[in-house]
Amino acid sequence: MSVRVGIHDLAVATTGYVVELDDLAAAMGVDPAKYRTGLGQDQMSVPAPDEDIVTMAAAAAGPIIDTHGADRIRTLFLATESGVDQSKAAALFVHQLLGLPSTCRVVELKQACYSATAALQAAADMVARRPDDQVLVIASDVARYELETAAEATQGAGAVAMLVAADPAIAEIEPTAGVFTAEVDDFWRPNDSATAVVDGQLSIFAYRDGVLGAWDDYQARGGVPIDQIDRFCHHQPFTKMAAKALRWLASHTGAGLRPPLIEVSTRYNRRLGNSYTASLYFALAAVLDADDDLTGRRIGMFSYGSGSVSEFFTLLVCEGYRAHTRGAATEELLAARRPIDIAGYRALHAAATNLGSGDDVSVPQESSGPFHFTGISGRARQYRADAPRP
Ligand code: HMG
Repeated sequence: MSVRVGIHDLAVATTGYVVELDDLAAAMGVDPAKYRTGLGQDQMSVPAPDEDIVTMAAAAAGPIIDTHGADRIRTLFLATESGVDQSKAAALFVHQLLGLPSTCRVVELKQACYSATAALQAAADMVARRPDDQVLVIASDVARYELETAAEATQGAGAVAMLVAADPAIAEIEPTAGVFTAEVDDFWRPNDSATAVVDGQLSIFAYRDGVLGAWDDYQARGGVPIDQIDRFCHHQPFTKMAAKALRWLASHTGAGLRPPLIEVSTRYNRRLGNSYTASLYFALAAVLDADDDLTGRRIGMFSYGSGSVSEFFTLLVCEGYRAHTRGAATEELLAARRPIDIAGYRALHAAATNLGSGDDVSVPQESSGPFHFTGISGRARQYRADAPRP
């Protein structure tokens, strides 16, 4: 008998600061409607100096460990495209901050915004083979572009943690998936750069090729017809992109897909900005936290990572899932961010992009999250938990 495998718990984190995109529009001399309506973005999360992908990843996963314990977690996958080291997995810092058992394999995955989906699929296969094991998948990213570019308004930051288990409480991952891979220079981050290099218009065409290519492969492998999908979550570099993708799918398939099928998925990302690997899973969180009961309904998930790899797969929402979602906590996190003005945010951006590893530095606590980056010592990054776990 096949095992039902899927997302058993899901929790999120973001940064301590938030920038209003109306303020950025004023600084850039741009009509604010371009960001709010043209891109579908209202705000972006910005990390304090003591926050990064590690602190956000640990903060997202903490409530999951508190609820379920760590005894059955045999693997931790951390997906990110804003890694903090060329060799050591950022997941090792997270493993230590969360007090996970030493009998847990730990690895970092990279393929632009896509790698959390690869992690989720690998996790599902691992659990299908050993149903007593659980896998913790965390997507965590800080999106940084050069200042005063068209891409600046599409920055952001956030992390989503998911516990993958047999007999999941939230959503089952259905086995059929469609994949589309094509080498393209639409977006990348060279080893010597703290900000991404991007060809914005090319990236939109590459994303469109990915949506249609992954959909066609999904159909060729026996995926369900489009009218059996009740909600769509698409990777959201800015939320308007998800709506564009729905329109492309509609004209490609001839289906009458209406904006409400996607709108609800943009609620968090409008306020976070691009969180790269985490963005698709923030869209999922928004759908699960929304008012309508999705028990037994199917969610279509489109994952895109520049460079490029795309995947379309589906989730089936479990009975009783609403008792396990964390919408109120997510709203609290978003509301707790402190507003920062453009001069302050740009100073943080400059400090983060200029932070090397050559000199020892001590970073004072500035954020109120549970985990902190404390600086660099002997070229190694240092972290601290407010409440260390055993
Ligand atoms: P741009 O060239 O300045 O913007 O940058 P635009 O001129 O194309 O305008 C954007 C939209 O605003 C347009 O809407 C305008 O019409 C509208 P559209 O025609 O596309 O529907 N607009 C207005 N609307 C209302 N009132 C106004 C107004 N003015 C204009 N007054 C761009 C846009 C996205 C290219 C830029 O921000 C950028 O380069 N961003 C970074 C790259 C990106 O996000 N690409 C998305 C696809 S790639 C991807 O998703 C992968 C990624 O997440 C990373 C990874 O996977 O690793 C990025």
